[in-house]
Amino acid sequence: MVKSINFDWRFKDDFKETYLEKTPLDALKIDIPHSIKVLPSNYFNEKDFEKVTTYFKTFDLEDYENKSVILRFEAFMVKAKIYLNSIFLGEFVSGFRPVEIEIKDYLKEKNNRLVVVLDSSELEDVPPFGYTIDYLTFGGIYREVSLLVRSINHIDKVLVHAYKDGKVNVTSLVAGERKNIRYEVYFNDELVTSSSEDEFNIDSPMVWDINSPNLYTLKAILNDGEDTYVTRFGCRDFKFTNKGFFLNGRRVKLVGLNRHQSYPYIGFAAPKSLQEDDANLLKKECGVNIVRTSHYMQSEHFLSRCDELGLLVINEIPGWQFISKEKEWRENFYKNVKSMVEEEYNHPSLIGHGVRIDESQDDHELYLNANKIAHEIDRYRPTLGVRNFKNSELLEDIYAYNDFICKDLTKGLDNPKTIKKGDAPYLVTEYLGHMEPTKSFDSEAQRVFHALRHAKVIDDNYKYDELCGAIGWCFFDYYTHKDFGSGDRICYHGVFDMGRNPKLASYIYKSQQDEEDVLEVLSSLTQGDRPQAFYHEIYVATNLDYVDLYKNETFIKRYYPSRDEFKYMPHPPILINDLIGESFLEPKVKSLKDRKRFASLLSYVAINGLLELKTKHYVTMGYLMLKYKLKYPDLVDIFNRYVSCWGKQTIIYTFKGYKNDKLVKEVKRGPSLKQELRVNLSKDYLETKDTYDALRISVALVNEYDMVLPYASSIVDVEVEGPIELLSPKSESLKGGQLSIYIRSTAKKGEAKVKITCHGLSKEIKIISK
Ligand code: GAL
Repeated sequence: MVKSINFDWRFKDDFKETYLEKTPLDALKIDIPHSIKVLPSNYFNEKDFEKVTTYFKTFDLEDYENKSVILRFEAFMVKAKIYLNSIFLGEFVSGFRPVEIEIKDYLKEKNNRLVVVLDSSELEDVPPFGYTIDYLTFGGIYREVSLLVRSINHIDKVLVHAYKDGKVNVTSLVAGERKNIRYEVYFNDELVTSSSEDEFNIDSPMVWDINSPNLYTLKAILNDGEDTYVTRFGCRDFKFTNKGFFLNGRRVKLVGLNRHQSYPYIGFAAPKSLQEDDANLLKKECGVNIVRTSHYMQSEHFLSRCDELGLLVINEIPGWQFISKEKEWRENFYKNVKSMVEEEYNHPSLIGHGVRIDESQDDHELYLNANKIAHEIDRYRPTLGVRNFKNSELLEDIYAYNDFICKDLTKGLDNPKTIKKGDAPYLVTEYLGHMEPTKSFDSEAQRVFHALRHAKVIDDNYKYDELCGAIGWCFFDYYTHKDFGSGDRICYHGVFDMGRNPKLASYIYKSQQDEEDVLEVLSSLTQGDRPQAFYHEIYVATNLDYVDLYKNETFIKRYYPSRDEFKYMPHPPILINDLIGESFLEPKVKSLKDRKRFASLLSYVAINGLLELKTKHYVTMGYLMLKYKLKYPDLVDIFNRYVSCWGKQTIIYTFKGYKNDKLVKEVKRGPSLKQELRVNLSKDYLETKDTYDALRISVALVNEYDMVLPYASSIVDVEVEGPIELLSPKSESLKGGQLSIYIRSTAKKGEAKVKITCHGLSKEIKIISK
């Protein structure tokens, strides 16, 4: 039996000896997951997390006689002294790994009093700490807590590995006596097979793949029912080779993003639905096929959702560049490796164990041991180690490297041949990030450049066949230390903002998949937002075959993906380099050839600006002026009507996207005369189970063409009514025209309302809390 104990804790943000005997009356009532401090959206002192706080929980437990009772913390940050009924149980390190304590000898049936004295400081003997790191670890009991009540003979863990052909290998870790064990395998609740052996077969298995994430359930029954253990698994084959990555026998180019596990305001303390939300966004809104859990073990809920979605995962132990020589630190490092490999073993989405501290120097002894530990527990999965320098000592199965060579649009990735000696499989685990920090409220030029650099790297990822894939830095903006980021404690490295609202770069990823049609115009077509008040470049991120551009009702031109610039990626963005095209219909200019000449001259000016005119342009202009007796005022008039288009006329550009010659999507750009509030929910209900539930409401101020207004910074006011609470502030400004609101369930159930007011507009949302 698993008894969750997440509700109704008490919290004090300090520690006093007296707390060990008596819970102070002013202790706050809280639920787990919990963060010791609520953060503003930026600018704060990260040292505020470096403190000792105290958690209190009272619980009853029946029928535990002759049983094993384990108190399990999924994770707390970082080290805790734990007391039960005034007995000191010991000091435990977590950080990112679960902690389990046998407590049966200290229990009573009623009013057990648990006290957790938690030190959330960056303790030198615990990785990732010891020097400095480019992320925050916050503080608190930030993942769930439970009691595992089992018979004395019980199954601690069942490790399952299954192949595409249905062969299943099971390792059962049993505490006490194993008289016999039986395995039952279910698919969609139907019994598929059963066995008493640790190796057995599933006939004609439903294979797990990125496009068909079929999951089986395994039930292990110990000693004719003394204990049972349930887990999920998938049947698949995968292989990293020096000719790429193969999944179920077919080559798959890995295209991915790195994920931290932090959220606005609440830091790491995010319950199941928010963890799942991230996996959903990566798979559905970015269309990537892999995520790296940089730089530590992440929530079981996140990994389980990756299994369900068919999103591949590379994990990683806690760290960042620094290796300590101290024994304690190294012991903790090894414990992390062991815990990560064991805990995450059954996830079919997991295809490699990251057993090296991100970007650390070589350390023969440390990494030899790390690989040994990983391979001893898991002989099926390869290990990898992420470095940021070439030709480092390779003790892992895969050479993983952070490639930050991309400076502009000339080169995305370094040639794999120059990175390492030998023929180990090669994977790029990071690119861009700090090379191009970009805020969602930056200028359009910056946001487009950011997007195009991601496109350039993706293109080079496909260019090199021997490269297994490349995982970009990173999914969303994240909280960090003073030495990193933009000085406001944020690294603006994401293709999403911290509230998981998309930046333009995210559409480059989304447009590489074929599940959903994508047509995103990476420009507001506002001349004045660009240097010299001209457009410069206009790109469309799309997976469609071509786009027809119209200026009001007039057809301008048909555009195809920009294969000249992006030779290898599945769906290059489309470059729009002519805004005049066939719309040039001056009656005076009679010849069709001359009309084309004029149009191309004007579109050159419209895109690049007057200062960029070359001699050849002046010659053509002179020729046309002479031939059609055009004076300077005529030219100004034509310029005004076709290029600047100022004044009374309202220009609306329409982009019509076609697939197989069928119109499938249409996007408009115009002068934003109206504003609307657009609201999207990560889900529309809350369901309290083992702990509270939470959801994200993304708010955007858009124009009449559903384009996010990137410079809108109006205040968003939020009022809630009914059995829900806000995890985000009541009042907060839009950032880049967008903002995320976070809502959680409470002990009560029923219908709740959220009223959002912004920019003189308001929206009301109903949420059912079950
Ligand atoms: C890498 C590092 C990441 C992050 C990134 C920023 O060097 O591995 O954690 O700091 O740089 O671009």
